Amino acid sequence: MPQPADRLAPLIQAARDAMQRAHAPYSNFPVGAALRGRDGKIYAGCNVENAAYPEGWCAETSAIAALVLAGGQAIEELVVMGRGEALVTPCGGCRQRIREFAAADIPIHVCGPEGLRRSFTLAQLLPQSFGPDNVT
Ligand code: THU
Repeated sequence: MPQPADRLAPLIQAARDAMQRAHAPYSNFPVGAALRGRDGKIYAGCNVENAAYPEGWCAETSAIAALVLAGGQAIEELVVMGRGEALVTPCGGCRQRIREFAAADIPIHVCGPEGLRRSFTLAQLLPQSFGPDNVT
C-alpha cells in the first residue's frame, strides 16, 4: 500500500517541473500546480501571464484545463508550488475552480521549491462553498 509521502512525491515533482515552464515575465513569480485525477494520473499546469495583465491565468487553472482535456476526471489531491516566504495558497478564483471538480475534503498541499510546507482541505480554504450540487 503506497504511503502518503510516496503518493505526494510525484505530484510535488510534477508541480516543480511545471513551475519551470511558467510564463511569468511580468510578476517574475512562477507557479506550478499538479493534481491527481480520479483516474490516478497526474495533470500539471503553470501560470501563463499576458501583456494585458488581467488576461493572465493561474497554474491551478492550467492544471484543471489539462484534466478536462483528458476527460474531466475528478480531482483527488492537488499541489501548488511557488517561492517566497509566504504560503502560495490558491487564489480565490482558483479555489472556486477547484471546487467544480473536487469534494470538500480533498487535500491541497502548499509547497515551496524545497518541498511541502502545509496541507489544507479544500473546505478549509473555501468554507461553505457553492458547488455543482447547488445547481442540480
Ligand atoms: N498565481 C498562481 O498561478 N497560482 C496561485 O495560487 C497564486 C498566484 C500566479 C498568478 C500570477 O501569474 C502570479 O502568480 C503572481 O500573482
